[in-house]
Amino acid sequence: MKRYSTYILAGIIVVLAATLTGVLVFMRNQPPAQRGFEPLVEIAQMEPDSSKWGVNFPNQYSSFLKTGTNDIDTTYGGSSQFSHLEKDPRQVILFAGYGFSKDYNDDRGHANALEDVRATLRVNETTPGTCYSCKSANNPGLWAEMGMEEFDKMKFSELGTHINETIGCANCHEAGTMRLIVTNPALDEALKAQGKDWTTFTRQEMRTVVCANCHVEYYFAGEGKYLTFPWANGTNIQDILAYYNDLGFKDWDYPETGTPMLKAQHPEYEMFTADSTHYRAGVACSDCHMPYTRDGAAKYSSHDVKSPLLTAEQSCGQCHTDVEYVVRRVNLIQEQVYTTKIATEDALVDAISAIKAAAADPNADAVLLDEARKLHRDAQFIWDFVSAENSMGFHNPEYILSILAESTDLARQAQMKAAQSVNDPSLLEVGTYYTQP
Ligand code: HEC
Ligand code: HEC
Ligand code: HEC
Ligand code: HEC
Repeated sequence: MKRYSTYILAGIIVVLAATLTGVLVFMRNQPPAQRGFEPLVEIAQMEPDSSKWGVNFPNQYSSFLKTGTNDIDTTYGGSSQFSHLEKDPRQVILFAGYGFSKDYNDDRGHANALEDVRATLRVNETTPGTCYSCKSANNPGLWAEMGMEEFDKMKFSELGTHINETIGCANCHEAGTMRLIVTNPALDEALKAQGKDWTTFTRQEMRTVVCANCHVEYYFAGEGKYLTFPWANGTNIQDILAYYNDLGFKDWDYPETGTPMLKAQHPEYEMFTADSTHYRAGVACSDCHMPYTRDGAAKYSSHDVKSPLLTAEQSCGQCHTDVEYVVRRVNLIQEQVYTTKIATEDALVDAISAIKAAAADPNADAVLLDEARKLHRDAQFIWDFVSAENSMGFHNPEYILSILAESTDLARQAQMKAAQSVNDPSLLEVGTYYTQP
């Protein structure tokens, strides 16, 4: 009898707990409370000027403006434009012969995007207009007006005369409804090619997908420099590498070895969605990077997008009770990924040294040497997928450590093939970076 009532009690507790969880989940998924809200001004569709939207949404606008002046750094990220090349000089060797070996600064906040793309030394007379694709709130209007094909065909300098706004509200929102939308035609096309229709996505999905307008791997296809996401096989590193290899695409030739190389961009979306713990748990980019903030009675999404380590209480505390603990975990993860990444770079530099030496020898076995080049190309792209991703491993630690291991393995194989191609065991030397002149 006693045992029986224990069961009933336990049953009641389970039901209550389930109901409470349901209610909490429901509450989490409700839009944040708005002040009794009448739009003060009507915003034209694709209005490029964020200050006009700001009249209706002062909290979102003023928090967005902060991205223009943020300058606090964290151990591996943050908002200053520190030089990756000075911090990690191996990258000067890895990107030799390409613009990134001359100028490669860390990212800053959204309000600086236009200024920074115009200032980079990587831009010159031959730069295509496509480089404006993720830098300006003028784009949605221009894409609607002239089509992306025309936009991409223009030269950077020519297209620049139509562009005067940095990233803004129009890059992420539909005026009027304020719903989150895909604005970049390349993202729309890439999703469609995978049989996905973003207009059917849930609100929580859009809180991640809206960032994929820009925080993705891409390339410029063909003479018209058509902006394309290499997602036709899927968005994992192996899918993307296979896509580029099937296409025979290259970003540049490595000097002295003639290896056709690939440069990764900033694949935050691909890395995060590659089955990371947080993605699996239904967490969105915006949960951490745009946490809800209070202004009196109003609750709004902070548009001061930056490193969540600077706002850990709001960014992580909404789900984790022990914020100090999870921040320590981030530090540990990033340190491990950084150390592993440097070991991969050392292997890549050794491979490059060996391939250079072999390529200079007219008697080298052409087949083995070519295999070495191909291994170097693949190894470096996989490494770069991690290196160019801006979270130093945090977005998906297990996956990132596993692909770094793969990259190191391929780089060492490249070195071996190069040594074999000239039958010279001295090319198997490890740590050539430390003995470079
Ligand atoms: C669970 C929380 C979380 C989620 C979800 C998340 N991030 Fe992050 N993100 C971080 C942390 C932590 C860092 C590391 C910041 C640092 O090193 O200072 C980071 C770093 C970044 C950076 C570099 C920031 C800097 O300071 O330079 C970018 C860009 C970024 N994330 C974009 C994204 C995008 C896009 C998504 C979704 C596809 C996403 N993040 C999802 C927590 C998150
Ligand atoms: C229209 C393109 C675009 C969209 C959409 C976009 N970003 Fe960015 N983001 C950029 C660019 C470009 C930069 C670098 C700007 C610079 O360095 O001047 C950047 C920088 C960042 C940074 C670094 C900020 C810092 O202070 O170091 C973070 C974090 C970030 N974005 C997260 C996100 C998240 C999260 C989303 C989705 C909610 C998102 N971004 C949507 C283009 C975009
Ligand atoms: C990088 C993409 C991005 C940009 C740029 C952007 N927003 Fe948002 N905005 C978001 C996301 C993500 C949310 C959260 C939406 C949700 O939870 O459904 C949001 C939410 C909002 C909301 C709903 C209420 C809230 O705070 O959650 C308003 C209003 C808003 N933004 C206004 C603006 C204004 C005004 C601008 C320009 C100054 C702007 N946004 C620029 C991504 C962006
Ligand atoms: C919307 C909810 C949510 C937010 C916001 C969030 N997390 Fe999480 N986090 C989770 C869930 C769910 C898990 C997986 C279950 C677990 O281990 O608790 C998780 C797991 C983790 C783990 C353990 C992962 C592992 O595999 O070891 C760390 C570390 C972590 N989060 C750090 C952070 C940090 C740092 C932030 C803020 C930048 C953050 N989280 C923001 C929900 C969230």
